[in-house]
Amino acid sequence: MYRSHTCGELRLADAEKEVVLTGWVQKSRKLGGGITFVDLRDRYGVTQLAFYRDLDADLYEEANKLGREFVLQVTGTVKERSSKNNNIATGDIEIHVAKLLILNKSDVPPFTIEDETDGGDDIRMKYRYLDLRRNPVRKNLELRHRIAFETRNYLDKQHFLEVETPVLIGSTPEGARDFVVPSRMNPGEFYALPQSPQLFKQLLMVSGFDRYFQIVKCFRDEDLRADRQPEFTQIDCEMSFVEQEDVLNIFEGLVKHLFKVVKGIDIPELPRMTYAHAMKYYGSDKPDTRFGMEFVEIKDLTAGKNFGVFDDAEYVGAICAPNAASYTRKQLDELTNFVKRPQIGAKGLIYVRYETDGTLRSSVDKFYTPVDLAKWAERCNAKPGDLILILSGETEKTQKQLCELRLEVGDRLGLRDKDTFNCLWVIDFPLLEKDEELGRFFAKHHPFTSPKKEDIEYLDSDPGVVRANAYDMVINGVEVGGGSVRIHNSDLQEKMFEVLGFTPEKAQAQFGFLMNAFKYGAPPHAGLAFGLDRLVSLFAGLDSIRDCIAFPKNNSGRDVMIDAPSQIDIEQLKELCIEVKKSE
Ligand code: AMO
Repeated sequence: MYRSHTCGELRLADAEKEVVLTGWVQKSRKLGGGITFVDLRDRYGVTQLAFYRDLDADLYEEANKLGREFVLQVTGTVKERSSKNNNIATGDIEIHVAKLLILNKSDVPPFTIEDETDGGDDIRMKYRYLDLRRNPVRKNLELRHRIAFETRNYLDKQHFLEVETPVLIGSTPEGARDFVVPSRMNPGEFYALPQSPQLFKQLLMVSGFDRYFQIVKCFRDEDLRADRQPEFTQIDCEMSFVEQEDVLNIFEGLVKHLFKVVKGIDIPELPRMTYAHAMKYYGSDKPDTRFGMEFVEIKDLTAGKNFGVFDDAEYVGAICAPNAASYTRKQLDELTNFVKRPQIGAKGLIYVRYETDGTLRSSVDKFYTPVDLAKWAERCNAKPGDLILILSGETEKTQKQLCELRLEVGDRLGLRDKDTFNCLWVIDFPLLEKDEELGRFFAKHHPFTSPKKEDIEYLDSDPGVVRANAYDMVINGVEVGGGSVRIHNSDLQEKMFEVLGFTPEKAQAQFGFLMNAFKYGAPPHAGLAFGLDRLVSLFAGLDSIRDCIAFPKNNSGRDVMIDAPSQIDIEQLKELCIEVKKSE
C-alpha cells in the first residue's frame, strides 16, 4: 500500500491515527528550535508534515535536506496542530512523521508551483506538466471533466448515442482552412482533419441513429485568438424527426442542467433574439446581455445643423453609459483613443454629458443647442448623471465600432461580472453572406443549412435576404454553440450548391456521397455543436480557452513543450512523395 489517505483528506477527527501519505514537497519551513514543517501536496490538497529534532534527530536532519517537488512517502501519526490554518481543509492537523522515504528527487522547478506563480506564460507552457500541478490549472481540468461527464449523463438520459466518426477524412466545408495529412499508400493524396463531424453526423441520421452526440476534437487552421485554438473540442449533436423548436428545447435543457449541477445556478428560460435585432441593437451576433446600453439611432435628430460629420454619415448611433457623466477629460480621451485604434477604426468619438444638475454639455456644442441635445438624451432614455457616446459613419462598420465601444465601457463600468451568466438564443441568421471582394455568396453557417420555407422563393432573386433555420447559443457575449435545421431533400441541396456557385460536377465531386445518401430516405434532421472549451472557460471565468486545455497551442499554433510542429526527416518526406526545398 503506497498510501492510506490523500493529502486533502485528514481532519481533526482522524487525530492519533497512523497514516501513510504520498505526494510532492510544496515547501518546507525550518522554524528554529529544532522544528521543521514540510507541506506535502497531491491532487487533493496539502498536509503539513512536522519533524521535531527532539523526537528523531536523524529524521529531522533528513527533512531539512528535502528539496521542492521531491516525491515522498511518509508514515506517521495524525496530531492536532497547536496553531491552526483556517485557509486549508487539513489546517487543524499535522503529521508527526516516523518514517520518511524519498520516492524520487526533483530538480529545482523553473517556477514556483503556487497559485500565484512567478513563472511567465512562455515558461509555464514549456513546462506545462509542472504548470498542471498548480491548483488553478488543475481545477480547470477538473471542471472540464465534470462538464463533459454531466453532458454525457444528460444526453444519455435523452437517448443520445455517442458514436465516433473518423479523424482522417476529406475536406469539410466549414469555412476555415483544413489541416492536411499526406497518405503514404496513396502518393500525392491527402486526408484532411475534420473541422467538425458535420457530414458524418448527417449520414448517421440517414442510418437511422436518430439521436447522436460526440465529444470530439475538431481542427481548424485559422488565425488564433483568446477563444480559438487550432484543435478544440465540440459537444457535437444531431437529431432526426425534429424541428428547430425541439433542438432549442433539448439543448437549453443541457445548458440549464450543466449550470445547475456544476455551478448550482438556476438559469431562467433562454430569451430568443433575432439576428436582425442583435445587429441593430448590439452590433454583434453574439451580444453580451449582462448589461443594457443598447444602440439608439439618432441620425434624424442630428440632421441639418451644419455638422458635416453627422450630416454625411449613413448612420449615427448612440449608447448611454449610466452614471458616467463624471468621466474626466482624460477618461474621455482614453475612450476616443480606444475607438481610433486601427483594429476598431473610428475617426472620432462624440459625447454628451448629462450633468447631475440637468445641464447637457457636449463635444459638439458649436453645432447643437441644449434643446437639440435634450432630444437626443430623451431618445436615449438618459438620466442626469449619464454619459451619451456617439459614433457615426457607414452603418455596418459603425455598428461594429459601437459594439466594441459598448463592451469597453461595460468593462470600465464593471457591468461585465464574470459570475453573472446571461444566456440566450440568437435565431433567424441569414442563410448566405456576400463576399464583396469576390462578388459571390457563401453559406453563413454551412451549405447544409435549410432556408426558411417562406424565404425559399428569394433564393434566386434576392439571396441576401433569405433567412436560415439556424441558431447560436450566446452566453455573456461568447458564441458557445451553434447549429441549424438541415436540408434533407437532395433537390433543395442541389439548389443550394447552385446558389453557392458550385457546378453540378464540383458539387458531385465534393459532396456526392451526401447527396447520394439523401436519395435513400433521409429523415428531416437538425443539430448543433457546442464549443466545450468555451463553455468550460465561461464556467471558470477564464480570459482564454487555453487555460482549460491540458496541453494547448500558443498564439502561433505551436506546442512549445514538445516543440511541434517540427521538420521531419527527408526519408520520411520521400516516403510520402513530398518534395521540399532543402533549407540552406
Ligand atoms: P461552428 O463552426 O459554429 O458549427 O462550431 C460550433 C462551436 O464550436 C466552437 N468553436 C471553437 N472553439 C474553439 N476554437 C475554435 N477554433 C472554434 N471554432 C468553433 C464555438 C462554436 O459555436 N458543424 C457545425 C455545428 C452544426 O451545425 O451542428 C459547427 O461546427 O463555440
